[in-house]
Amino acid sequence: MKKRIAVLPGDGIGTEVAEGAMKVLETVASRFGHQFEFAFGKIGGQAIDSKGTPLPDETINLCKESDAVLLGAVGGPKWDKMPPELRPEKGLLGIRKELGLFANLRPVTAFDSLISSSPLKKEVVQDVDLLIVRELTGGIYFGKPSGRKGENRETAVDTLQYERHEIERIVEKAFTFARMRNKKLTSVDKANVLESSRMWREVVDEAAAKNPDIEVEHMLVDAAAMKLISNPKAFDVIVTENMFGDILSDEASMITGSLGMLPSASMRSDGYGLYEPVHGSAPDIAGKNMANPLAMILSSAMMLKYSFGMKEEAEAVEKAVTEVLDAGYRTMDLGSNSSCTLSTEKMIKQVVYQLEEDD
Ligand code: NAI
Ligand code: MG
Repeated sequence: MKKRIAVLPGDGIGTEVAEGAMKVLETVASRFGHQFEFAFGKIGGQAIDSKGTPLPDETINLCKESDAVLLGAVGGPKWDKMPPELRPEKGLLGIRKELGLFANLRPVTAFDSLISSSPLKKEVVQDVDLLIVRELTGGIYFGKPSGRKGENRETAVDTLQYERHEIERIVEKAFTFARMRNKKLTSVDKANVLESSRMWREVVDEAAAKNPDIEVEHMLVDAAAMKLISNPKAFDVIVTENMFGDILSDEASMITGSLGMLPSASMRSDGYGLYEPVHGSAPDIAGKNMANPLAMILSSAMMLKYSFGMKEEAEAVEKAVTEVLDAGYRTMDLGSNSSCTLSTEKMIKQVVYQLEEDD
């Protein structure tokens, strides 16, 4: 298969880890007989410096003309005092909006060899492998009216609003992902209190009737928050609205205890997606060849699986990462087993080597 991938390395360690994803994808291409063409664009601080805006039109166009997007990370102290419209983060929100990406995917996978870095007990964390599907463009973060009112601005308003079609499209995606995995879907809402949640539940029930091969359960968000800590293994695919998903995905990401290992995707209905690590630009370690490239590499595996339908290729990347970790190799953030502590570049080389070796 031939694919064009827009690469937006961004700022700080974004550029260092993006390098890793590209090397791994090149290895996948030669092992499986694909052709990946990389097209580079600027976003965030580096775009502000050279183009005067965090999201130049040419970057948007480049993404639109590509089959998928890989994004490193944006931001850093250099731009912290910029006015709000000139902040690197504007570029991030802008590109998601421009591309119509409404489904945010955050997998949480416990790697056996890293379990000791979790704040939870080993037996709770072992074998955790779940996927949170969060609605990204509706709900209380975007509802109108919002703001302050009253003579003394003593009233603050936020509006939680959903259109039926917004719920239908995210729920439909979630069913697709559940089918690709273990055919189990948990829909999280607050239907005992919120009208938007009652409509959410209606939509999920209708979809469940049309997809009888998928086991569906409803769970209230407060109960889900507890269960993610007490028994995260009970989940496979979780689908939820924007704000609940924001909170639950950050909660769930701590199960594994390592920011440098967490990939993510933001997608739309046609399979197009933007893939990026959960972590930021890490200014404290930028340029030091210390960053963990695995979150970015695992994000590129998600791209293979979800945008290109290359499940076998994606699993090959995940397997190589698991084997490298099982062999004891670590970047600095994963603990101080000093004999096997690798730089960013060496970790990338190790994954590439393993991927070739597994062939
Ligand atoms: P951060 O995720 O960049 O870093 C938090 C801590 O984790 C730091 O100590 C960092 O060194 C470490 N860390 C993060 N990723 C790592 C990796 N791959 N390997 C090893 N260590 C890693 O979050 P922080 O410090 O709050 O934000 C730094 C900048 O990044 C800010 O400008 C922020 O706005 C931006 N940011 C951007 C995001 C994005 O582009 N999606 C997401 C989060 C923050
Ligand atoms: Mg958050």
